[in-house]
Amino acid sequence: MSRKRVGILISGRGSNMSALIAAAKAPDYPAEIVGVLSNRAAAPGLVIAAAEGIATASLAQSKFFSRDMFEDTMTLVLESWEVDIVCLAGFMRILGEDFVHRWEGRMINIHPSLLPLYKGLDTHARALADGASEHGCTVHFVTPGLDEGEPILQARVPVLPGDTPESLSARVLIEEHRIYPEALRLLATSLQ
Ligand code: GAR
Repeated sequence: MSRKRVGILISGRGSNMSALIAAAKAPDYPAEIVGVLSNRAAAPGLVIAAAEGIATASLAQSKFFSRDMFEDTMTLVLESWEVDIVCLAGFMRILGEDFVHRWEGRMINIHPSLLPLYKGLDTHARALADGASEHGCTVHFVTPGLDEGEPILQARVPVLPGDTPESLSARVLIEEHRIYPEALRLLATSLQ
């Protein structure tokens, strides 16, 4: 078995990135994390990845003439790492069609809702405002439509009395860290 080479895109804290890095330490895991790319130089996740001995890079979209040039440069960085699979892990930019098509079928994202419910931002607050009795997270393929690609795995959590966006988000995050490595395992195995 050849382990699939994975590049992770982040914008911030990187806790899902850390979950993928931890899972990939198992000798029988079918993927290895070879690089972490952030669109924010100050993303705390970059420090964590570098401490793990993983290649890191940051590219600010504002420094580029256009979104296409920014995303073409991201692809160049990912290709320099010889990436097979791209994992979005809290990458908070909408990606253009060219970039999405370049990696289609090999790029996945984690989203903090039970898609197709609550695409976009502030998912926990919106679920609470609706009086939802359950909430959760989804790992899905990335397609040009925002949060619209085919789901790979979902996990559900109950909404509890007195929940705040923070308490609900913390409950969902535990499940994110469980299903993201599992979904990456499924994709990497299917590409063998
Ligand atoms: C996670 O909850 C992830 O699901 C969410 O951002 C957080 C990033 O946290 N992603 C999105 O909302 C994407 N639309 P992390 O940096 O600690 O993984």
